[in-house]
This record gives sequence, C-alpha cells and structure tokens, in this order.
Amino acid sequence: MASKDLLSIYDLSNKEIRDLLKKAFELKTKKKYLDVFKGKTLGIMLEKPSTRTMVSFAVAMVQLGGTPIFLTSEKMQRSRGESIYDTSKALSKYLNGLMIRSFNHADILEFSKYCSIPIINGLTDYEHPCQILADIMTVMEILKAKTIEALKKIKIVFIGDSNNIVNSLIAVSAILGLDLTIISPIEYQVKNEILKQALEHTHKTGAEIKVTSDINAVKNADVIYTDVWTSMGFESEKTKRKKTFVPYQVNTELLKKASSKCIVLHCLPALRGEEISADVMDKYENSIFTQAENRLYAQKAVLLHFIK
Ligand code: CP
Ligand code: NVA
Repeated sequence: MASKDLLSIYDLSNKEIRDLLKKAFELKTKKKYLDVFKGKTLGIMLEKPSTRTMVSFAVAMVQLGGTPIFLTSEKMQRSRGESIYDTSKALSKYLNGLMIRSFNHADILEFSKYCSIPIINGLTDYEHPCQILADIMTVMEILKAKTIEALKKIKIVFIGDSNNIVNSLIAVSAILGLDLTIISPIEYQVKNEILKQALEHTHKTGAEIKVTSDINAVKNADVIYTDVWTSMGFESEKTKRKKTFVPYQVNTELLKKASSKCIVLHCLPALRGEEISADVMDKYENSIFTQAENRLYAQKAVLLHFIK
C-alpha cells in the first residue's frame, strides 16, 4: 500500500521512485500543473536552519497554485511544551500537508502517527529523502542517463561523513540497484542497521553498495558527492571532526584518481576549504547548482504525489 508520508526513501517503491523522477523531469521541461493546489496549504515547520529546502518547498507550493505557511518552532506552542499529539491533531484541521525539518527522526515518526495529513521529511538526523531524489535527477540529467538501466552503470562515490545524506543515498541505491561506494573515516562509517536494511533490497535489485575508509576507492568514479563534516546537531564534535576528515577533502588531487569525466555534487551548504576545496567548488558549480535547482522539481513531484 502506498505510504501516506515521505519520512524515508524506504516509504517509496521502485516504481514510485521512477514515477517521481519521470514527473520531476516533465515538470522541469514542460512547466505544467499551475493550479492544482488552489486553496491548499503546506505547513513548513523548521526546527533548524534551511535555505534550499525551505525556499524550494515554498516556491513549489506557490507555483502549483497553493500556499506555504511557515511554522518556526520558537513561535509555536511546541516551544512552551505542547505535545506532538495535540499539535498534530490541530494542524491536521487546517493544513493539507506538513513538511518538517527536525533534529530527531523520532519526532517526525510521531507527527506521522498523529497527523491525518501527509508528512514530508525535510531533513532529520537520519534521512534527507527529498534531497536524494533531486540528486538522482541531477546525475541522470548531467550524465545523460535517460533510464534507470543507464543510471545503474554510473559509479557514484560519496566521500565524507556517513550521515543523513548517506543513509538516504544508500536507500535509493538499494531500491533502484545502483553502484554506490561510501568512503568515510573508520569512526564515521555507515551504521550496521543501515546496511542491513539495504540488504533487504540489494539481493533483488543487484545494487552494489560498498563501504570503505580507503580514498583510493574513488577510482573510476563518475560522480563524487560530499557533504559537510559536521552536520546540524553535531556542533560539539566540530573540532575533532575537522582533524579526522582532512584526508577526505574533495580536492584536485583526489579528483585525479576518479574518471576524467567525473562530476562533483554537494547538497549544500558547503564549507569551502573543509570538505571541498574552493577551486573544486568553483569548477563544478554547474553540477552543484543544478542539484540545488532540481530540489524544486523533485519536490513538486513529491507534493503532487502525496497531497490529495
Ligand atoms: N541541502 C539542503 O537541504 O539545504 P538547506 O539546508 O539550505 O535546506
Ligand atoms: N548533513 C547535513 C545536510 C545539510 C543539508 C546536515 O544535516 O546538516
């Protein structure tokens, strides 16, 4: 049965992911569906900062004929102790959908349980599913992989912290059958439960998911993807992380090991000089900002799929 919410990439089937990607490309090329959400509202609830997710969801809603409503945590009664149950019950009476960016994934699971409206994960400590749909769209667009079969031949390498981005990237790769390598320092590698969950799909789809601490695994990469070394909520570990991750910076030396046609992705925000050197960031501006642009189209497809 189709899921009411998009909390994790695993809420989507192989077919639903293909359909969402197809719809996202259609929306990008044909600029359709301008009035479908007339009179409908999307709550945008943010517990931590956001530029791309907040703005692209708001613009997507407006361009589809609906209205975004911004719900900053500190202005809501939640900040004074109102329960998720009561908040969910009340918000479900007004809104047609709710996008949430929260610290704890457990909180959006609770919102999902008590809200009758669809909940969309706009990033938690565990997953960032909307980002990953835009990322796959970007790889297909820039490397001209017109089908999922063509996408399966592309070697995607993520280098850096095994965080929310990585968890969603593993999930989409497992479901679609992609070739994914994750390179992280030993102490920041993918958790076993994440790999175990992926295994339930990989045997059916033939996905190749490798985890290593060896930066030489970027050999033959067609896509190199990175993210900040210190994600939101982990600031107390910043000094230690900055030291440990130094050999894992995406820079010109590292790119020499990859395919000569390799593209670089970054979900942004980026810290030039930390996870990515300034020259690499500038050189691969096209792929990185196309990735940001595609958030709009991937999320329009998500909104059309989930909001009835
Ligand atoms: N990539 C991403 O989610 O960006 P924001 O944190 O700016 O929303
Ligand atoms: N992993 C990062 C992604 C930001 C879009 C974070 O959670 O802060």
